[in-house]
Amino acid sequence: MCGIVGYVGARDARDVVVAGLKRLEYRGYDSAGVALAAEDRIEWRKRAGKIANLEAAVAEQPLPEAGTAIGHTRWATHGPPTDANSHPHVAGRIAVVHNGIIENHGALKARFDVDFASDTDSEVAAHLLRREVEAGSTLVDAMRAVVADLQGAFTLVALDAEDPDRIVAARRSSPLVVGRGEDEFFIASDVAAFIEYTRDAIELGEDQIVEVTSAGIEVTDFDGAPAETRDFRIDWDLAAAEKQGYDWFMRKEIFEQPKAVADTLLGRRGERGELQLDELHIRPEELRRVSKIIIVACGTAFYAGLVAKYAIEHWVRVACEVELASEFRYRDPIVDANTLVVAVSQSGETADTLMAIRHAREQGARVIAICNTNGATIPRESDAVIYTHAGPEIGVASTKGFTTQLVACYLLGLYLAQVRGMKYGDEIEAILTELERMPGYMSDMLEKADDVYGLAERLKDRESMLFLGRHVGYPSALEGALKLKELAYIHAEGFAAGELKHGPIALVTDGIPIFVVVPPAGRDQLRDKVIANIAEVHARGARTIVLAEERDAEARENAEAFFALPNVSTLLQPLVAIIPLQLFACEMATLLGYDVDQPRNLAKSVTVE
Ligand code: AGP
Repeated sequence: MCGIVGYVGARDARDVVVAGLKRLEYRGYDSAGVALAAEDRIEWRKRAGKIANLEAAVAEQPLPEAGTAIGHTRWATHGPPTDANSHPHVAGRIAVVHNGIIENHGALKARFDVDFASDTDSEVAAHLLRREVEAGSTLVDAMRAVVADLQGAFTLVALDAEDPDRIVAARRSSPLVVGRGEDEFFIASDVAAFIEYTRDAIELGEDQIVEVTSAGIEVTDFDGAPAETRDFRIDWDLAAAEKQGYDWFMRKEIFEQPKAVADTLLGRRGERGELQLDELHIRPEELRRVSKIIIVACGTAFYAGLVAKYAIEHWVRVACEVELASEFRYRDPIVDANTLVVAVSQSGETADTLMAIRHAREQGARVIAICNTNGATIPRESDAVIYTHAGPEIGVASTKGFTTQLVACYLLGLYLAQVRGMKYGDEIEAILTELERMPGYMSDMLEKADDVYGLAERLKDRESMLFLGRHVGYPSALEGALKLKELAYIHAEGFAAGELKHGPIALVTDGIPIFVVVPPAGRDQLRDKVIANIAEVHARGARTIVLAEERDAEARENAEAFFALPNVSTLLQPLVAIIPLQLFACEMATLLGYDVDQPRNLAKSVTVE
């Protein structure tokens, strides 16, 4: 949930760290701080609020020059966003920043007879490290001793004023990645912090300690043994992490979706045109033994999983459950060696999803990750991964993450159908060909953006909206409602259209906007029922916004606003139907004056349970 940046090298560490924090602000923006070692003492500045407040503090009271510094941008877990609760936390010659939750912080604090300066769980780590180094330990040995006592998930990055050219970090179930430059190293929660300096990165494993100086890096496990790491090359550049003229990262990312989907489809065909998923290192015979599939995910990724269920069950004829990752392991799920668990996660660091796959693997299941972040924890702890290639998604609200997750789920479903002989090559080819047309259809939808913006202007005084859909239109409705909730802070609910008469229709009052996603005309019975739902809510005064195929004249009859969808297969329709709903939420939040990229209380990657 927080952003961490550390730097060791010849650059001005103050600037590198603050600039890095700004690139990570989407991870948490309740407060920010930076610390460095100068003349055997720690100097630090930290402020509640956005990073601009920190920059003002540093401008008012400049920090001394240094080649080593650490910084933090916070999403509050323990203690409100105040200056005192901001990181770094300092105890004597030690400064430390923390991402995660130290669950036994109470018991650890009881070891000290000091007045803690903050309400946080993190501060105790500074005191623990201080005690160790003052007893004569090096910073790395101090870190090793401290992490042995910690319970919970954590990334700790520490600095010792008496060893100013060194940074030591430790991670457990919380993100951390290293950037390798020329005689310089970067330590961060996310490669976005250092992408402008280097695209050479080092993926770290669980329970590892990293020690960097400008001369080199050493990675060990918590017991001190040398640890395995993996070098990788970041496959996007700085420009991808910039707004490029858009007002919001989210709006840019909505418009990037055709390219993101096309990139995710690249290289998925073999020489004979058959579907191939190179990174799917699970043998076909194992996939043929799979008797049940369980998709685990959170938020928007969960809705992508709901769409995947319809596609996988239709194409593969294997039972497919979709579970909220936060619920999965607590419901004592039935999982065995013939269960395939699919973890869908844009960031690859969502704690709920990570804990779910750990539970699944303990039960003997094979795990496939669908992820947009190379080097992330979830793909590393899975048996196989299908990477989406959306590029960095900076906006907290997921958009291209969602549509590329859909594509990866479709590819997985088709691959399973292929290896299990449930679909012939020509059938798979036909669906792949239609998928390869989707970027064009999505571009067509983006051309309607001004119509969507006009609708947002007309509805901006509405306090509640409903979203209805059937079949894969139902998860589309859920996702449309989530976008509006998390961006415009408007009450919005998505429903299965068939559920309307079982209760939700009581919410229908005069003037309430209701978005309805209508299945393709080809799905006659399914579609007819949704057309009837539109009439039912329209008769009760709802303002109906209908998303239906261009050719569906009847769907227009009771529509106050109509957004024509291209004629695509039912299962693929979410790829186009979601675009007006994303644009609507983005524009509504903009009209209401909210921060679209950093909505209140949210953070991009929920790395605590
Ligand atoms: C999406 O708009 C939300 N920001 C949130 O629901 C997100 O999809 C969820 O936290 C899962 O994140 P992940 O895909 O990185 O695991």
